[in-house]
Amino acid sequence: MEGITIISTGAGLPSRVMTNEDMAKLVDTSDEWIFTRTGIHERRFCAEGEDNLSLAIAAAEQALSRSGIDKNELGCVICGTVTAKYASPSTACLIQKALELPEDIPVLDINAACAGFIYGLEVARGLLCAGERKYGLVIGVEELTKVLDMEDRSTCVLFGDGAGAAVIRVEQDAPYESYLGAKGGLEIFIEGVGAERSTVHMDGKAVFRFAVSAIPKVINSIFEKSGKTMEDVDHCICHQANARIIDHVVKKYGAPEEKFYKNMERFGNTSAASVPTAMNEMWEKGMIKSGETLMLVGFGGGLTMAGAMLKFNGKEA
Ligand code: UT7
Repeated sequence: MEGITIISTGAGLPSRVMTNEDMAKLVDTSDEWIFTRTGIHERRFCAEGEDNLSLAIAAAEQALSRSGIDKNELGCVICGTVTAKYASPSTACLIQKALELPEDIPVLDINAACAGFIYGLEVARGLLCAGERKYGLVIGVEELTKVLDMEDRSTCVLFGDGAGAAVIRVEQDAPYESYLGAKGGLEIFIEGVGAERSTVHMDGKAVFRFAVSAIPKVINSIFEKSGKTMEDVDHCICHQANARIIDHVVKKYGAPEEKFYKNMERFGNTSAASVPTAMNEMWEKGMIKSGETLMLVGFGGGLTMAGAMLKFNGKEA
């Protein structure tokens, strides 16, 4: 099967900044506790007029306009989210309508929690390889504030809202390797349709243990299949749940710290949006150059884990 490359990215970020001091007005916590445990100083929450859908549309529109392709060249639209505005229609269908995207292509949401964007890349690759068109639009978006219990200090301080998107292209000889998996489990869950209230519940310690073993498992599997090593990777963009989780991985590989990007300090954990928004930020800052190799890694509710090693072929953001 052909590989994929990323040709552009975009983001939709809410306007309301909530600092740790702001969170300390809601629950018994402190900047010191939150920052030392997680590396988070602030996050973005949706303000009036912003929601899962508006963020997703903004991210998708930006990625598309930066891609330089005609939107009729798109062969699929895939959206990873666990906080969709509607159970049906899917967020992807609503993005399709808002941006007047082609009607004769598969358009769907996937639920793989914080691994949703990377699962989305792989689903898009499969669909594009089976079809005629070369380009796909993949989005990761969350409005987690809708499902946070703002009285539960063990969860509400960790998460934020946001959306990230990428336009990808399938190419015959593009170097690409991936790993997708899941363990099954309720270590993190959100009640579904019909529940009186849907909130995030998490056994933080269990998820931390899972994360520090899942990330190397994903990366090692990709290295085994591709014959590559950490030296071949220019940037590693892991799910931005906790700085300590990423520090564990940096240590394990003896890698230079700057190879592993971190931006949870300003955005918290935005689940499916965290990897694409971090990638977009790096591109905008000129930190990623065209032709560089990225290792993207996600893990989260499910318990899902996913990774993709691929080339970034964008021009200028
Ligand atoms: O995207 C999904 C992926 N999710 C993750 O990757 C999360 C992974 N887990 C973690 O990042 C960490 O487990 C947390 C940051 C969530 C928690 O850190 P921890 O070191 O595991 O803390 P803890 O849950 O064991 O809590 C330690 C103490 C408790 O008090 P006692 O029982 O020791 O008196 C908590 O009640 O800290 C207390 N605590 C807080 N204190 C101040 C919990 N939340 C807070 C808070 N502020 N916000």
